[in-house]
Amino acid sequence: MNNILVTGGAGYIGSHIVEQLVKTKARIIIIDNLATGYKKLINKKAIFVKGDIKNFKKLSKIFNKYKIDSIIHLAAYLNISEAERNKKKYYQNNVTGTLNLIKCCKSSNIKSIVFSSSCSIYGDTVGAVDENKRANPKGYYARTKYEGEKIIIKYAKKYNYKYAILRYFNIAGASSSNKIGEINSSYGHLFKNIAIQSLKKKPVINVYGADYKTKDGTCVRDYMHVSDLSVAHVKALKYLKEKSKSMILNCGYGKGYSVLEVLRKFKKIKKNLKINFVQRRKGDVAVVYSDTKKFKKTIKMKIKYNNIPKILKSSIKWERILKNRK
Ligand SMILES: NC(=O)c1ccc[n+]([C@@H]2O[C@H](COP(=O)([O-])OP(=O)(O)OC[C@H]3O[C@@H](n4cnc5c(N)ncnc54)[C@H](O)[C@@H]3O)[C@@H](O)[C@H]2O)c1
Repeated sequence: MNNILVTGGAGYIGSHIVEQLVKTKARIIIIDNLATGYKKLINKKAIFVKGDIKNFKKLSKIFNKYKIDSIIHLAAYLNISEAERNKKKYYQNNVTGTLNLIKCCKSSNIKSIVFSSSCSIYGDTVGAVDENKRANPKGYYARTKYEGEKIIIKYAKKYNYKYAILRYFNIAGASSSNKIGEINSSYGHLFKNIAIQSLKKKPVINVYGADYKTKDGTCVRDYMHVSDLSVAHVKALKYLKEKSKSMILNCGYGKGYSVLEVLRKFKKIKKNLKINFVQRRKGDVAVVYSDTKKFKKTIKMKIKYNNIPKILKSSIKWERILKNRK
């Protein structure tokens, strides 16, 4: 039996991955300090330990007690503007925290590690970006994710594990189980903002920058539904086990949409949407979308949600559920 530790399993993406993992035969153990996670996102079929990945003793205890053999490492801070203001906090959590987790793998049973990285490590890009593009992180958050990647790669041989570094593009939407979705609204994620505004009588969306060198001046991103991303994690774990080979993999659908393109689709649902153009945000790049060749080759899965209106509906539906629960 597999014993999988999910760090950050009480968060948005982590809870969706756990929802997929509990369908397998594996035993799932979550460690989360609930800094930005939520009790109500914790899957009842998983074992939950409240704790911090910076706590070596606690992690070691979990490793021994549950005989952990695989890790999905999501625990991190990810507020881009907060990272610029509070670099130390982000370094300690995202870099030192990752190093601590990896050091626990010494003399352990860990065979596979899946790490949540980000397309932000590429910086500004032209055209579809593949995994071989040199990293050029622009903001501090992106730098911490890239440092995390380097730590995982550095110790792989020494501690005898295989890794899958998954570079997520922009993740959105919610599970069709209607039980989990994105709660935290402080990250400035476009689909979360849209979902919040969709419930208002007079919806207003701020667009950060209309002077980028893109088709309509607004930023272009590759939006992937969280449920497809979660299935990809289960497949990545399987790949590591069966092929015994490490990999770095972009996770996106391969098409870039500008903020205005997404908003135009939202306007079909909410006709009185008001769009406010405001200043650029620090750390945002103009264009980033994925080259999906490697993903298609390695992760053989049926993509279910590659459609902006579908992702919009999924995000809005969850927001309604969340509001009614309060
Ligand atoms: N959301 C996106 O679009 C996106 C894109 C690229 C990469 N990522 C990465 O995906 C991962 C998950 O992001 P999310 O969107 O689910 O955010 P989230 O804030 O919902 O989840 C992060 C979880 O980690 C926990 N956590 C943070 N620091 C911890 C620590 N020191 N010890 C224990 N638990 C800790 C939080 O409480 C939270 O539950 C992150 O690593 C993030 O960098 C997210």
